[in-house]
Amino acid sequence: MKKIKIMCVIGTRPNFMKIAPLLRALKNYPKFRPILVHTGQHYDYKMSGVFFKDLNIPRPDYNLGIRAGLHGEQTGRTMIEFEKVCLKEKPDLVIVVGDVNATLASALVAAKLHTPVAHIEAGLRSFDRTMPEEINRLLIDQIADYLFVTEPSALKNLIKEGIPRKKIFYVGNIMIDTLKNQKYKAKILKQFNLKPKQYAVLTLHRPENVDNKKILENLLNIFDEVQKKIKIIYPVHPRAEKQLKKNGLTRFINQMRNFEIIHPIGYLENLALMSHSKFVMTDSGGVQEETTVLKIPCLTLRQNTERPITVTQGTNVIVGRNKNKILKEVNKILAGRTRRSKIPKYWDGHVARRIVKILCPKK
Ligand code: UD1
Repeated sequence: MKKIKIMCVIGTRPNFMKIAPLLRALKNYPKFRPILVHTGQHYDYKMSGVFFKDLNIPRPDYNLGIRAGLHGEQTGRTMIEFEKVCLKEKPDLVIVVGDVNATLASALVAAKLHTPVAHIEAGLRSFDRTMPEEINRLLIDQIADYLFVTEPSALKNLIKEGIPRKKIFYVGNIMIDTLKNQKYKAKILKQFNLKPKQYAVLTLHRPENVDNKKILENLLNIFDEVQKKIKIIYPVHPRAEKQLKKNGLTRFINQMRNFEIIHPIGYLENLALMSHSKFVMTDSGGVQEETTVLKIPCLTLRQNTERPITVTQGTNVIVGRNKNKILKEVNKILAGRTRRSKIPKYWDGHVARRIVKILCPKK
């Protein structure tokens, strides 16, 4: 029997937790032969390798070794290398996840080779085209053949953009399959001398927050106020770390006594850290969703979100970079005044199974 070749593409940290459950689900279908391609956009052990270990992801069949670069350069180099792999392997389907440069580059190559493309996490829109991810999302969804969405807003966005309804599948959030599948221990709390519910977690890495010195300084001033109320722990992303060093801001950080920067942490450590925290402050997309499921209050340090269900149903509050708003929300949380939330429909741990069933109705 000729097997159906399914090429799964990953490139950056937020892709790994989305591909892990899919690879597991594909294994149950002997008809499929999965091929895993890592573009290598993220490459440090702490940004990539540790996730393979934590999530039991097999070694990729190909690593394109792309690494960092300007957008055109990074996307272009990924296309050049990915095209070679596609020409050699001739996949029957290419599956891409999320919205990073690796996602766009591989979807574009596949579409031009007339290979069907499936996009997991389609339709999310921040309506802010200054975000590189928003450009990626819009373009990927125009050329994808299967669009798997996590929430109703995504379905609505795609219909508005003229995508035929029959291409769109409301399956839920695959990242939650991974979250529900984990047993994580609170070892990291001991390691950093943290007491449950007596600290807040910060993640901050988006270009609009960290690449401009004034904005970054302004945010640090706000964190300075917050750390007077509760300890903040910040696993720093390499992009942010570079900017903090370049702009001479590490001295300011060192004088905040209750603000601790740590190296990037693995998936399991991060879940443990978030789930025992009092609240999380973030500019990441995935963290807004994970905190909703963990039922931990989340303050999003952005002007908008492409994941509105985390606000309407989950624990997320959009606070931007507004000092008064942030402090007001922090005070509310510390006083125990948090909103009631619920877990969105289909964020139930069975998303990968639904996707694979759609791709292959007959086992
Ligand atoms: C990328 C994604 C972003 C996602 C983020 C998650 C795009 C356009 N952006 O942003 O959507 O939220 O990943 O982390 O694709 N670096 C290292 N080691 C690594 C990885 C990166 O030092 O393992 C450094 C790079 O050298 C570069 C910087 O971090 O200087 C940024 O890396 P890059 O992959 O270009 O973008 P991210 O900011 O990580």
